[in-house]
Formats: sequence, C-alpha cells, structure tokens
Amino acid sequence: MNTIIEPFRIKTVEPIRMTTVAERETILHKADYNLFSIASRDVLIDLLTDSGTGAMSTKQWAAIMQGDESYAGSPSFDRFESTIQNLFPFQHIIPTHQGRAAEAILFSILAGNGKVIPSNTHFDTTRGNIEATGAEAHDLVIEEGKDPQNLHPFKGNMDIAKLDSFLSEHGKNVPCVMLTVTNNAGGGQPVSLENIRATREMAKKYGLPFIIDACRFAENAWFIKLREKGQQTRSITEIVRDMFEGADGMTMSAKKDAFANIGGWLALNDDELAEKARTRLILTEGFPTYGGLAGRDLEAIAQGLEEIIDEDYLRYRVAVNQYIGDRLHKMGVPVVRPVGGHAVFIDARAFLPHIDPLQYPGQALSCEMYRLAGVRACEIGTVMFGRKPDGSEEPAAMDLVRLAIPRRTYTQSHADYMLERIEQIVGEKDKLRGMRIKWEPPAMRHFTAKFEVLT
Ligand code: F0G
Repeated sequence: MNTIIEPFRIKTVEPIRMTTVAERETILHKADYNLFSIASRDVLIDLLTDSGTGAMSTKQWAAIMQGDESYAGSPSFDRFESTIQNLFPFQHIIPTHQGRAAEAILFSILAGNGKVIPSNTHFDTTRGNIEATGAEAHDLVIEEGKDPQNLHPFKGNMDIAKLDSFLSEHGKNVPCVMLTVTNNAGGGQPVSLENIRATREMAKKYGLPFIIDACRFAENAWFIKLREKGQQTRSITEIVRDMFEGADGMTMSAKKDAFANIGGWLALNDDELAEKARTRLILTEGFPTYGGLAGRDLEAIAQGLEEIIDEDYLRYRVAVNQYIGDRLHKMGVPVVRPVGGHAVFIDARAFLPHIDPLQYPGQALSCEMYRLAGVRACEIGTVMFGRKPDGSEEPAAMDLVRLAIPRRTYTQSHADYMLERIEQIVGEKDKLRGMRIKWEPPAMRHFTAKFEVLT
C-alpha cells in the first residue's frame, strides 16, 4: 500500500515531557491506577478522547482573531449559522457550549417521565440526559454491530425491523427517534445512507421527529463514500446533505468533527420547538447568538467545518486508525473490526482471557499501556458499565480499551512507538494481573474509582 502522508505541516509545537517506566510506576501507584487521575504532563501520548483535543489550523487561529464578542447580533454568529446551514439545511441553529448541553436542552423539552427514546446506540451523555428527565433510552443497533469480529461495513446501522416493532409497541410514549453517526459507543462504526433514510422513514411512518447525533458526521460520510454502492464519485458535501435530508433536528459536539476545542449546537426545523429551546438556552447557556460560546469559538467552529469535509484530510484520518488497527490485528491483539472512524478499540477480554471480567481486563491493559508506553487510553467495559443501580456488579457486554485518536495531533512515529510497546505487552501478557476496586463513588465510578493490582 502507498503511504498516506499527514496532509499538513507543523507550525506550532507543544513539547511532550519524557518520562521513564520507573517514574510512571510511581505516578500510577499515586493515582490508584485510575488514568483519569493522572496529570496530562505525565502522559506521552494522550488517547483518552478525540473530543476537543485536536489541533486547530492556521486559518482557525486567524478566524479566532476575528471573533466579534458582542452580546447580541455578532457577525461571528452569522458566519457560524450560515456555514452550518450550508451543510445541514435546518431552520434554527442554536449554539451551545458542547454537545451535552444541546442534548440537555432538547430532552428537557421532549423527554420526561414515561417517555422512551430509541437510537442505534445512545452515547453516555445522551443516555444520561434522557434518564435525568425520568425517560428511558433504548439501543437498537443491528446484531452485527455487537460482534467485535463481524466485518459488516456499516455496523452502526439501526435495526429497522426492531425499530418498527418498538415504535408500534411504544409509539405514543416515543417523543423522537435518534440516530448516532458514527456510532461511538459501538466502536466508531458508520451508519449507511440507506439505513439513515430507512430510519427517517420509520420515524415518519409513526409521525415522530427524527434527530441525528452528528458528532462525527464527516467521518461517517467518508465511510459512505468508500463503502456504499453508488457513492464513490459524490462529494462529501453532497453525501452530508443527503444524510440530513428530511431530518427534523441534530445535536452536535463541535469538539469532534468541527476541529474545535469547545462548542456544539442544537439544530431544529420546528418553530415552536426551537422557541422553547431558545428560552431554555437563555436560562442555561446564553443569548441565542452566542449560546454557551465566545464569538471567537463560533469563528473557529465555522472555519473547522469548512476543513473537516476535505477528502485529503478524511482519507488520512481513517487511514491512521486503519494502520494502527491492522498492525495490532497482525500482532495478535484482538481489535473491533472493521476499525472505526475516530478510535481503535482493543478487545481486552479476548486479549487477556486469564483475567476475569470482574477483575477488569480493560483496566489492567490500559494501566499496563501507561506504565510501559506512557500512552493514556480509556477502559470501556466493566469498570464503566458493570455497576448496577442497586450496587451489585456484573460484567459489561464487552471489555474494551479505546485508543481515541485526536485530530491532526500525533504523527505516524507516535503510532509506531505505541505499537512497538504494545507488541512488548503481547509477549508478556500472561503476567498481567487483574484489579480490585478499593473505593468507588455511587455513580460514574470510572472517573474517580481507586484500584489496586491483585497479587
Ligand atoms: N454524542 C456522542 C456520540 C459523543 O461521542 C459525545 C462525546 C457527545 C455526544 C457529547 O458531546 O462531549 O461535547 O458534550 N464524546 C466524547 C468521547 C466525550 O470521548 O467520546 P460533548
């Protein structure tokens, strides 16, 4: 295969502080083996998230200087609004400080006690915001999407037959149908254009609004271009417009596919719903022409949106994940395949079969990656999802370790270094031991729990 180069050169650098294995052992111990408790200056390669951690371009930094910080009627809002509407043809664009704020506003209006909201897979904050209103969140992704080794090209697809029976059973309690593109919680897997349309039609059949969680819309559009019949010669802009055609709204985190360090928006078509959302926005975020953002953020997002649809960028973006995923697969590390758009997910349960899921193989592997390589990844498994509301514990569906790749931030030699270290772990993996939680908070334990290594 020909090498696909980074389609940018580096003008500003941010030094990485080098640390040794011995130093990192002390740091890990002090952090009680929780990688969220480690300072970023003690991390060599930070793959905790791809959210807000990307590098901005020269044009984005220049746009920042043009930010107009007027409380009302800022021209920066006009640029923000028109750039968004060029890609996503919604009537109302409501800026928020990040994706979850858009979700909180939307569900404060639509959800509530007794309501149920289906999606392919709700992201944690989406689920959290739905549940906080007393409603329930349901995941209806296709069966192939739950099998880490199934090579289906669109593993983020909604199970349309299940959605149909769900809506016929719960119809009157369903305020909207959601779809997450790409499906982050399911491994960054794309949804096909055909499936997006079928989901929209199913929502229409039951007279329900169709809302897209669009955080990684450009990566999803790129996969459609690569993998879906008849899409190869079409531009990303055309594909994106088709993805959103006939949708009634979108929630967005600009920290992903808008290359910004902060920001988001809620877009809607319905005037009455938008009015309610703006009223809520003024209470919780800010005036409708800035929402939760500064004028300069609106400019950075608008510029970022113009850059994210660049095919050279998207080709490089997906090739990076593919490269890491393929090399891991070849060295015998089980990864979720095909590799998704923003991250590589290691199947830690399959990799470390000698560690019981209730002794957290994903946590053991991510701690070892930090100790040996200084790489910070994120457990997405029994630590994150295993604790039930009644305090009991059971294994999560999968024990994964997510290597989320920040946009335009690291180079191929960072990837090669990490892969060399992981190869070392492969040779010694039977020596890795499970972990025990010695303290945990009542909810969202993965952020603050304290662990110890079992002897
Ligand atoms: N929806 C999806 C699919 C996401 O991945 C995220 C964030 C959000 C909504 C919320 O957006 O962070 O701007 O409030 N995902 C990050 C991650 C945190 O690491 O995957 P936000």
